[in-house]
Amino acid sequence: MADAILTWADGRGRRTLVPPAPTRNYYGRVLTRLMTSLRRALIWVLDWITRHARGFTIANILTQAGIIVTGGVVRLTGSGLGCSSWPQCEPGRFTPEFHPETWFHPAVEFGNRMLTFVLAIVALGVAIGIWRSRSALKWWGLVPGIGVILQAVVGGITVLVELHPLLVAPHLLLSTALVWYSVWLALTYRRAPRRAGTSIIWHQRALALNVAVILFLGALTTGAGPHSGDAEATERLALDPELIARAHAASVWLFLALFALLVWRVRRDASEGARDEVRRAWVVLAVVTLAQGVIGYIQYFTGLPEWLVALHLVGLGAFAAAHSASHFLLKTSRTA
Ligand code: HEM
Repeated sequence: MADAILTWADGRGRRTLVPPAPTRNYYGRVLTRLMTSLRRALIWVLDWITRHARGFTIANILTQAGIIVTGGVVRLTGSGLGCSSWPQCEPGRFTPEFHPETWFHPAVEFGNRMLTFVLAIVALGVAIGIWRSRSALKWWGLVPGIGVILQAVVGGITVLVELHPLLVAPHLLLSTALVWYSVWLALTYRRAPRRAGTSIIWHQRALALNVAVILFLGALTTGAGPHSGDAEATERLALDPELIARAHAASVWLFLALFALLVWRVRRDASEGARDEVRRAWVVLAVVTLAQGVIGYIQYFTGLPEWLVALHLVGLGAFAAAHSASHFLLKTSRTA
C-alpha cells in the first residue's frame, strides 16, 4: 500500500520509487493551469461587476456625495494639515505619525485620504460595468474614475498650498459636479423615462446656470468666513462675508422663483411610459432646496456652528443629486 502511494510513473509508464525530476514541460503545464485559473477568476469578477453595473452607478452617487461630507469634516475639525505632505502623509512615510496628544487630526485627514480608494474602486466598477454592457456609454463611464484621480491631485495641491481657499473651493465644487454627473450617468444607464410634453429646455438651462451661481457664491461665502481652510489659516478671501452670504441667499431665492415657474409649466406632465417619475423629481428637488435653504439661514444667524455647516454639506450633495435628476427627467426625449 505504502509502495503504491510512494511510487511514481516513469516516462514509460513503469512504477518507480524515484520522483521524476521536474521538466520544462512540467513547469509549463503548471503555469498554463495557473493562468487558466486566473483567467477564469478574472472573467468571473468582470461578469459579476457587469451584472451589478447599475448597483455600481448608485454606489458611485453615494460615495461621491459622501466624500463631500467627510472632506467637510476634515476642514471643520481643523484637520486639513493633519498630514503635512502629499502624496506621502509625512515626508518619507505614507502613514501618519500618531502621538497621544495629536492623534486626532492626522487620523481624520488620513481617513479621508483612504476613502479615495473606496471611491476609486467604485468608479472602476462603474467603468468596467458600463464598458461591457452599454457600448454607447462606454466613454462616459470613465468620467467618475478620471474625476477621482483629478480630485486626488487637487486635494494634494490643496495641502501643499496650506489650504488656500482658492483651492479648497474648486476642490469642493469639483466633487459637487461629480455628484451631479453621477446621477446623470445612473439615469442614462437605466434609460429612465423622460417627460412627455412640450420642451422647456431654455427654462431648464436657465435653472442649471442659476445652480452654478448658487454653488459658486456658496463657495465664496465659505472662503470669506471662518471655515475657509484651517482653524489657524490666515488666508481668507478678501470679501465681506455678510455681503457675499446675502448674494448667495439671493441666488437661492431667484432659483426658487424660476423653479416655481417651471413646476407650474410641467404640473400636469408625466413620464413617457407607464411609470411616472416627473412629479417625484420636482417634489424631491423642492423639498431638498427648501430644507437646504432653512439650514443655510439657521447657520447664518447662529454664527456658523460646525455641525450645521456639515449638515449644509449633506444638503449640498442631496441638492446636486436632486437637481441633476429633475434636469434629466424633465427633459423631453426630443431635447435629450
Ligand atoms: C439651495 C440652497 C443652497 C445651496 C445649494 C447652498 C450651497 C452652499 C455651498 C456649496 C456652500 C459652500 C460650502 C463649503 O464650501 O463648505 C455654502 C455655504 C454657505 N451657505 Fe449655502 N446654500 C444654499 C442655501 C443657503 C441659504 C438660503 C443661506 C442663507 C444665508 C446659505 C448660507 C450659507 C453660508 C453662511 C455658507 C458659509 C458656510 C461656512 O462658512 O462654512 N446657504 N452653501
